[in-house]
Amino acid sequence: MEFPRIHIIFIVLAICLRLNAVYGRHMHHWDFFDYCAISCRAHSASLTEFGGVGDGTTSNTRAFQAAVDHLSQFESDGGSMLFVPPGKWLTGSFNITNHFTLFLHKDAVLLASQDESEYAVIEPLPSYGRGRDTEGGRYISLIFGTNLTDVVITGNNGTIDGQGEPWWDKFHKGELLYTRPYLIEIMHSENIQISNLTLVNSPSWHVHPVYCSNVIVQGLTILAPVTVPNTDGINPDSCTNTRIEDCYIVSGDDCIAVKSGWDEYGIAFGMPTKQLVIRRLTCISPFSAVIALGSEMSGGIQDVRAEDILAINSESGVRIKTAVGRGGYVKDIYVRGMAMKTMKWAFWMTGNYGSHADNNYDPNALPLIQNINYRDMVAENVTMAAKLEGISGDPFTGICISNVTIGMAKKAKKIAWNCTDIEGISSGVVPQPCQELLDQGSAYVATCNFPTDSLPIDSLEIQTCSYRKKYSLDNHVLKHL
Ligand SMILES: *[C@@H]1O[C@H](CO)[C@@H](O)[C@H](O)[C@H]1NC(C)=O
Ligand SMILES: *[C@@H]1O[C@H](CO)[C@@H](O)[C@H](O)[C@H]1NC(C)=O
Ligand SMILES: *[C@@H]1O[C@H](CO)[C@@H](O)[C@H](O)[C@H]1NC(C)=O
Ligand SMILES: *[C@@H]1O[C@H](CO)[C@@H](O)[C@H](O)[C@H]1NC(C)=O
Ligand SMILES: *[C@@H]1O[C@H](CO)[C@@H](O)[C@H](O)[C@H]1NC(C)=O
Ligand SMILES: *[C@@H]1O[C@H](CO)[C@@H](O)[C@H](O)[C@H]1NC(C)=O
Ligand SMILES: *[C@@H]1O[C@H](CO)[C@@H](O)[C@H](O)[C@H]1NC(C)=O
Repeated sequence: MEFPRIHIIFIVLAICLRLNAVYGRHMHHWDFFDYCAISCRAHSASLTEFGGVGDGTTSNTRAFQAAVDHLSQFESDGGSMLFVPPGKWLTGSFNITNHFTLFLHKDAVLLASQDESEYAVIEPLPSYGRGRDTEGGRYISLIFGTNLTDVVITGNNGTIDGQGEPWWDKFHKGELLYTRPYLIEIMHSENIQISNLTLVNSPSWHVHPVYCSNVIVQGLTILAPVTVPNTDGINPDSCTNTRIEDCYIVSGDDCIAVKSGWDEYGIAFGMPTKQLVIRRLTCISPFSAVIALGSEMSGGIQDVRAEDILAINSESGVRIKTAVGRGGYVKDIYVRGMAMKTMKWAFWMTGNYGSHADNNYDPNALPLIQNINYRDMVAENVTMAAKLEGISGDPFTGICISNVTIGMAKKAKKIAWNCTDIEGISSGVVPQPCQELLDQGSAYVATCNFPTDSLPIDSLEIQTCSYRKKYSLDNHVLKHL
């Protein structure tokens, strides 16, 4: 078949224009890029294809829900990615789906709606028995997923802004009808990645994986005013095999709070947090802990390995919080390589934290706190080296502190260590610990060793994926020919 000459020219022109549409005047720098994820996706779409408007005032709740509903058809066909372009995208809560990636461009800001009606009220967590703020239900989180597998929430440092102020005010005034929403909550799920995002001003906790396994949290910047209530950074809760890396957190509560349910509800549910790795964390938390274990720990916390931590102006470094009635355990905890600057307490253990779900807790449910290891740390400007307070008749045992130098503040407490109902050893610790932690001599400085095996989460592979925004030759381009 022969083409008339003129047609050949048109075809060549059309190809050039097509390239032009991609590389030329229609080119946006987000059209092609690579990113890292636990799985890549076969299908993708942009929020704007579902009526999204990034003007900061139009609600995108329906656009997000429509996008996820549409993309969920690809669950078993290579998975999908929803791309959020630059703009300010106001939205209420939306649910995500299986084999799904939410990707926020660096100039994309999700603005959480401040309208309570945008957050469905859901059942309390079974391991808590009630909401954390109020009895009964709780507002669903801004981004919510349950019973999922293979979920990625990432970006090249796009922002999710919880706009928490009215929630914090209502909490203080006792005006909340239900427990405040979290920013991101993923329940009963496996293979989760939350990475390379900036999360700010959550109404309450920022990242809450609960009843999950195989969770990677990486490269998050989490910022909230240091005086606002319960704005924890990352709370692995009854999760197995979790890795938290390269995060920078400034918050009004614990930077990382490891949890596993509350009193009789947590004991009955019986799901521990175990095999948790935390590394390269920077934390500023003037009124709370860098890493808290508890206080909700009734399902147990076991095998936590934290290293390369920088704490600045924080109340305490590692803190164990528990109480009679919690039951459960905190055991096999290893922390090494922690630098602390300006702290109230380097180490803190609290056996009488109280704060019960209700009055039906079992007074005979005593927590087991055992094999807690801290080594290779330097602290400066510390008010009190350690306050280690176990439970009378239920001492915290197997505490080991080695190669730790704590520089005391000018206005330090006269007594650097105050220990009650604890047992353990120390080695090479300055200032000299309490008599409950008798120094074994510097020859034993290698005590409280970190485990040498690696946890399964460290072998979960991250791949390089490519996103290509698909262009078709627009009709109006053809008409010009
Ligand atoms: C996060 O971004 C950094 C570069 O900024 C990159 O090296 C890393 O692989 C990314 N991680 C994930 C999990 O997206
Ligand atoms: C999201 O999931 C929760 C729990 O399954 C459900 O209660 C809620 O209605 C869902 N929201 C939407 C918008 O579908
Ligand atoms: C989600 O998984 C949990 C735990 O396996 C199960 O109890 C619950 O019924 C599931 N929910 C849904 C909506 O499938
Ligand atoms: C991400 O953005 C935050 C807030 O603007 C900034 O502090 C942080 O350095 C950024 N992270 C990266 C890896 O660019
Ligand atoms: C003691 O801890 C410091 C870090 O604070 C580390 O550089 C040093 O190697 C440790 N010494 C021993 C003997 O492990
Ligand atoms: C030491 O800590 C106090 C607060 O306890 C603070 O006011 C002071 O600036 C800190 N000094 C240094 C050198 O960081
Ligand atoms: C040490 O702690 C115990 C119990 O926590 C407290 O009663 C006592 O007053 C403290 N001692 C000093 C000297 O601070």
